[in-house]
Amino acid sequence: MTPLLAVDDLHLWYDADGGKVVRAVDGVSFTLEQRGEALGIVGESGSGKSSLALALMRMLPKNVARFDGAVRLAGRELTPLSDDQFRREIRWQRIAMVFQGAMSVLNPVLRIGEQIAEPLLLERRYDKARARARVRDLLERVGLPAGFASRYPHELSGGQRQRIGIATALALDPDVLILDEPTSALDVSVQAQIMNLLKDLKEDPGISMLFITHDIGLASDLCDRIAVTYAGEQMEVGPAERVLVAPRHPYSQLLLASLPRLHSDVPPRTMPGDPPDLTAIPAGCRFHPRCPYAWEDCLNHPPGIPLPDGGHARCWLNDPVVAGDRYQIQLRPTEAARD
Ligand SMILES: Nc1ncnc2c1ncn2[C@@H]1O[C@H](COP(=O)(O)OP(=O)(O)O)[C@@H](O)[C@H]1O
Ligand code: SF4
Ligand SMILES: [Mg+2]
Repeated sequence: MTPLLAVDDLHLWYDADGGKVVRAVDGVSFTLEQRGEALGIVGESGSGKSSLALALMRMLPKNVARFDGAVRLAGRELTPLSDDQFRREIRWQRIAMVFQGAMSVLNPVLRIGEQIAEPLLLERRYDKARARARVRDLLERVGLPAGFASRYPHELSGGQRQRIGIATALALDPDVLILDEPTSALDVSVQAQIMNLLKDLKEDPGISMLFITHDIGLASDLCDRIAVTYAGEQMEVGPAERVLVAPRHPYSQLLLASLPRLHSDVPPRTMPGDPPDLTAIPAGCRFHPRCPYAWEDCLNHPPGIPLPDGGHARCWLNDPVVAGDRYQIQLRPTEAARD
């Protein structure tokens, strides 16, 4: 079956000071198979997650050094579309996004209803009555009373504003919703409410999601599959449950081991070393300076090595020919997954 979204070898690099180049998205490939599927994009801060989202929305800054790769939506190749075509047919219409820090995206001088209605009036040519009715439906869908349409952003709590961000993104009925750390600024109970809303939207109307987070636990709660991102690359992709219980990449394993655990005497491990400088990415496996298993073969760049569950892991330990005896190393399932 044709995947809903297929991304192949996507690159987004930026020019930086001193003639350097930031390789923020560096050969990323993945698919979102069907309606109602959620893929978690998980990685530390600075690993290129927001850049991936902006590349898919084609919302690029001026200092782009490289932007290429294939993106297909329901089989349609998007790369050849002009910016104008992309704006008219794809962005917000088919692929929409809730931004990191959505709180600051709302216009403080416009009522909530006006903000949600704007694309309906401009893009869909709705008359005012129809737009008002649609705004009511959208508010209800995200769990807010219709009366919120007449409020201003400053009258809303953080969680309510995030719900408005989601309603706005849903206005034109997109197929794919990108959520960039949608709950990171919220306290834990509000975060849980937003996660429940996302689970509902995944079931009905069956929105497909790319859920971006630094929290692998949060991703596994919502997502069917997880893609672990490191230094602009995807290190491991697989079913959420398997990645959580039996990670096949040392970075995934360390991310899991760094989670706090409820019923354990073992303190969480801190990730060794620092995230890499994306202007000077290490040669070979880019995780090698921080990897407890690294050996000389790791100076060769590993491909995504296919795993039996349809996913892949970009680590030589998964290749019996290269790893030899090391192939037996079992990347320990973490206690975090069992808590
Ligand atoms: N417009 C830009 N110009 C130069 N560097 C950028 C730009 N936007 C982001 N970066 C850099 O790209 C890297 C990845 O950033 P980002 O995609 O925001 O990562 P994440 O969302 O995972 O934290 C970071 O090193 C960041 O500083
Ligand atoms: S390829 Fe080598 S350095 Fe990279 S994650 Fe695997 S074992 Fe570690
Ligand atoms: Mg980000």
